[in-house]
Amino acid sequence: MLWPALLLALPAIVQAALLHSHDNDGSHHVPQRLPTTWHHPEDHPVNALFKRGPTDGTDYPTVGSPTWSSAYPRSSPDVTQLPKEWVAALDAAVAAGKIPNIPQSKNVPGVNPVYPNNLNPNGPEICSATYKCVNSGDIWNAPDGTFATSFDDGPTPASPKLLQFLASNNEVATHFMIGVNILSYPQLFLETFNSGNDIAVHTWTHPYMTTLSNLEIVAQLGWTSEIIRNSTGGRVPKYWRPPYGDSDNRVRAIAKEIFGLQTVIWNRDTLDWSVATGGTTPQKIHDNFVQWLGGPKSPGLMVLEHETSDGSVQAFMDAYTMIKPNGWRTGSLTRLVGDGNTYANSKDANSSVQFDNILAGNSAPAPAPTSGNTTPAPLPSSAPSFAGNKTSSVTPTSSGQQQSAQTTSNAALPLVSRDVPWSASFSLSVPALLAVLAVLV
Ligand SMILES: *[C@@H]1O[C@H](CO)[C@@H](O)[C@H](O)[C@H]1NC(C)=O
Ligand SMILES: *[C@@H]1O[C@H](CO)[C@@H](O)[C@H](O)[C@H]1NC(C)=O
Ligand SMILES: *[C@@H]1O[C@H](CO)[C@@H](O)[C@H](O)[C@H]1NC(C)=O
Repeated sequence: MLWPALLLALPAIVQAALLHSHDNDGSHHVPQRLPTTWHHPEDHPVNALFKRGPTDGTDYPTVGSPTWSSAYPRSSPDVTQLPKEWVAALDAAVAAGKIPNIPQSKNVPGVNPVYPNNLNPNGPEICSATYKCVNSGDIWNAPDGTFATSFDDGPTPASPKLLQFLASNNEVATHFMIGVNILSYPQLFLETFNSGNDIAVHTWTHPYMTTLSNLEIVAQLGWTSEIIRNSTGGRVPKYWRPPYGDSDNRVRAIAKEIFGLQTVIWNRDTLDWSVATGGTTPQKIHDNFVQWLGGPKSPGLMVLEHETSDGSVQAFMDAYTMIKPNGWRTGSLTRLVGDGNTYANSKDANSSVQFDNILAGNSAPAPAPTSGNTTPAPLPSSAPSFAGNKTSSVTPTSSGQQQSAQTTSNAALPLVSRDVPWSASFSLSVPALLAVLAVLV
């Protein structure tokens, strides 16, 4: 039974294996430390060679250096090794009653995470975004008339193609990044950030967050915020997107109270993550875009897209030709919502940075967004698949009993280390690598 899946995953595994061996070669990598402060005037030609925005003045280790990478967990974080301030912040928030005391969900393969004791995931105490329960504090929609561009799961080897395309169209996007992928592809991370793109949090190892303990949630968000802060001259992320959209009242409260992170979901799903494995096709994605872009302008479009494969990037490139002609204003997601700042202490990659740490401080609630249409609006009834699975094209009801397609995507992103499917992809990739070697030898 593994073989069909294995064959599907093979090209990506081969690609990952080849790229990894290339990366690990390292002989031609010359680590270069960029200055943290400019000693040349702004108009000095050196500025044009090393574009880098202002920093908070701290001397962070060079991104990609051993000093830099050794400070972070390799895979699922060990909760006994967390900075004690994070744990103290969690304890204080729990003691202050700010973190709902609801149970962890259980991961059930093939379906959405399930809560014990028949608790209703759409009920007011849980309100799981996986089940399309809309908490008014979360961002699901773009402002009217806008197309809020964002990509999940980077950086990956598919990122350069995307970055090149964005740059050639004078666009930047929000990249919800996975911590371990930043560790694996530090130069691609820098390429993304240094080209003016916006960085946000997509957790450390891409787990179903509602299945985790409070401390595990702190670890997933904390390490990702930390590596982004320490690799961008001190910029503290302000937004995160839960993998699979899997968040509930407990998870979103920890994100907000401990790290000041605002939860971002989406209102359209291309299923582009599955295009590399045949789960969807370029034609289906194209047809969906035609429908969405030709549809109502309110709310604006917040489309779930990924920078995981050439195919998913190509799907965006194809859609892009239709966005502006259909009258939409494009923009990086984090610039279109809230107050337009991508970071808690800086506007964007080029703006000044206030020194800060990643903790929100538990005494004052983080301020609500001041502008922008972040209030969830109902989908137009003509909307095609909202987050429906590959075979369905249903409009969700307000109670949203429909299952998320994301639950079927466990094996879809082979470059990404994941908590739950990790052992599965490991057991797949060993025989696959042997098969590859056999072919190559
Ligand atoms: C991030 O930078 C801060 C400030 O220099 C430092 O205290 C902290 O140890 C760094 N974190 C990691 C994981 O390297
Ligand atoms: C940031 O600065 C670089 C270099 O000047 C520029 O190319 C880029 O467009 C700027 N990005 C943004 C988002 O302003
Ligand atoms: C996908 O949608 C079809 C049709 O609505 C449904 O029968 C099936 O159970 C769904 N599968 C998952 C995994 O959600």
